[in-house]
Amino acid sequence: MEILEEIEKLKREKGAVILAHYYQDGVIQDIADFVGDSLELARKAIEIEAETILMCGVYFMAETVKILNPGKKVLIPYPKAGCLMADMVIEEELKAFKEKNPDYTIVTYVNSSAAVKALSDVCCTSANAVKVVSSVEGEKVLFVPDKNLGSYVAEQVKDKKIKFWNGYCPVHEKLTAQRLGILKKKYPDAEVVVHPECSPSVRKLADFIGSTSQIIKHVKASDKGSFIVGTERGIIHQLRKVKPEATFIPAYETFVCDQMRMIILDRIANSLKNSVYEVKVDAETAKKAKEAIERMLAL
Ligand code: 13P
Ligand code: SF4
Repeated sequence: MEILEEIEKLKREKGAVILAHYYQDGVIQDIADFVGDSLELARKAIEIEAETILMCGVYFMAETVKILNPGKKVLIPYPKAGCLMADMVIEEELKAFKEKNPDYTIVTYVNSSAAVKALSDVCCTSANAVKVVSSVEGEKVLFVPDKNLGSYVAEQVKDKKIKFWNGYCPVHEKLTAQRLGILKKKYPDAEVVVHPECSPSVRKLADFIGSTSQIIKHVKASDKGSFIVGTERGIIHQLRKVKPEATFIPAYETFVCDQMRMIILDRIANSLKNSVYEVKVDAETAKKAKEAIERMLAL
């Protein structure tokens, strides 16, 4: 495929490293130097030596890489690829909450803007949210912005009073318990794996709940031969690699994050060729956001 060769050539010429999230199209995952979940991508970002990092994912992921690597050129092929959940919180409202409730610790999911991270005490991802909330000192926690991941954490961390921001992921929220119930009847031997961004009624029907990397690990170790996959179907590309003989059933046919899929091969080539679109975060915001991310990474 010509475009793949072009990307490979441009990548070499520009000395760029490509990072991709598991929700990218399979062909993009395969051209990336590193594929991971939000936590793995954030960790990887600090180790990279190349001067240019191209993030194939949604905007907050590229912003996180930039915050952790202020001296590097961080590119995103299409800056309008934003996370719908991250857009459900604005800094002014969070500021107002903090002013009214100074006794709350603000724990913010990385699916958020740099400005919101900068107002937070600590960040978390879906892979470590329980650990992060358990580790905070105060009893009162505001979990921002995902009410579903927040309620998943609250089910497990009983010694905190947790309030949730009213945000959610429309892609995961679209999966209903009714739909999952029908699939479970149709495939009684299949194991149900879901992301914690799914609603509580969906999570109740699952055999395993975890972040994307945790789902991959779990499926690899499982002795089942079929799986109902309750998260973005890009992950199935990796699941097929770790368990080629298994059957994977997307929990609904169009379980696709359209935002993630705004990253396409032509835009990746354009990004490398023209050094666009460069992610910038103002120094003051980046400094504060970095502290919240680093508190998470230190755990
Ligand atoms: P992970 O933390 O599992 O990578 O998920 C990120 C995300 O955007 C889920 O919708
Ligand atoms: Fe955001 Fe949902 Fe897409 Fe994840 S799947 S990037 S939470 S909109």
